[in-house]
Amino acid sequence: MKIGIDKIGMYVPLNYVELKDLAIERNVDPDKWMIGLGQEKMAIVPIDQDVVSMGANACNSILSEEDKKCIDQIIFATESGLDYSKSCATYIHELLEIQPFARSYEIKQACYSATASIQIACDYVKLHPDRKVLVISSDISKYGLNTPGEATQGAGAIAILISSNPKIMEIGDYSVAYTCSGYDFWRPNQLDYPEVNGKQSTELYMGVFVEVIKEFINRYPHKLKNIKSILFHLPFARMGKKALDKLERLIRDDELTESQELKKAILRWNDMYNNSTIYAKQVGNIYTGSLYMALISLLLNNERINEGDEFGFFSYGSGSVAELFIGKTVKGFREYTNLERFTRHIERRKKLTVEEYEKEYFHESVNEVKNIDNTSMNHEIGFYLEKVENNKRYYNKK
Ligand code: HMG
Repeated sequence: MKIGIDKIGMYVPLNYVELKDLAIERNVDPDKWMIGLGQEKMAIVPIDQDVVSMGANACNSILSEEDKKCIDQIIFATESGLDYSKSCATYIHELLEIQPFARSYEIKQACYSATASIQIACDYVKLHPDRKVLVISSDISKYGLNTPGEATQGAGAIAILISSNPKIMEIGDYSVAYTCSGYDFWRPNQLDYPEVNGKQSTELYMGVFVEVIKEFINRYPHKLKNIKSILFHLPFARMGKKALDKLERLIRDDELTESQELKKAILRWNDMYNNSTIYAKQVGNIYTGSLYMALISLLLNNERINEGDEFGFFSYGSGSVAELFIGKTVKGFREYTNLERFTRHIERRKKLTVEEYEKEYFHESVNEVKNIDNTSMNHEIGFYLEKVENNKRYYNKK
């Protein structure tokens, strides 16, 4: 029985700032961010959106009435949660009118949590093949103004429906997970912004990538060479390429047991890399959804992908947990990945000046305050945060 991604939806906020403009304002050579990090634009959340409304909008773009009757679990993956106790999934359950006898909960492990959710979802559907699980990843990445991480911020949500006989991608049992506790990026409860050891975080990411590749070869000999490409968690568009370059050096120096047979594969992986980063360049880091935004980007922007092609997914969440697993496109997948819709969604956005971005950034609506009133705002079509009253959040739909 095939199990995997039946539908995938994306929501990115209406506003963005050009990194070129921001670099000039910060006295940084724009090439450092545009070439060195590979970033062009950065999504900025307007005051009437939060992780719940973004997640609900991503779900709304894919779910049918029939799906809503079949969903047994709603798993909300985030590191930008709103409440220690009430999960964001409970709001999604109400807003999307999903059948009442469902499990709804939130999961956290930095940028890895959507992958954990997908694996839990696949295991569940394996036992209940006529039921479905809805996975939502939704995050707002903020490092603070004038910080080294400022150019790698972003925001957005991905919704993934896991079912049997999926229409887009089968997720198989080939997988290697890896945990090593560390402090590369972390946000203790009392802090508004994460603590980051930037350089260490990129080194850890690459080091962990090599560890899981080695173990993957160990567990599944000769499997990697047939993979069409590898998708990466993309905190910025160049990060995955840095990891690929490291792997290429090991292959060239014959340091992997399968170095010889991977020589051709690494050329192909390099060749397809840019197709997977098109949306990351435009949106920035959406944390745990970023790997799945890379999937959408690759499927929509590379016409040489065929039914039955296998892809490696490298998921990385600081702290840190990683996983490398395999997905395989299924017959007819192109029918269910609509390039025009995603392009329109990205192109609808409005550019902010750096001054507007700084004002928006510091707006008190983000998570911290007790009362917010957005009722008189001109909202975009879709779900939005209408108000917060006595610490209760109210959403509406236009
Ligand atoms: P930095 O230290 O200011 O930048 O911040 P840099 O000096 O490392 O330069 C970046 C690249 O630009 C370098 O390339 C430079 O050579 C190049 P590299 O050496 O890496 O190949 N460069 C130029 N290129 C062209 N023209 C120029 C120029 N000048 C320099 N003129 C850093 C970079 C990523 C550290 C910072 O943005 C940061 O701290 N970001 C946040 C942390 C992060 O994104 N880490 C990534 C790995 S951890 C992860 O993925 C998990 C995460 O998503 C969180 C989670 O799991 O929840 C972050």
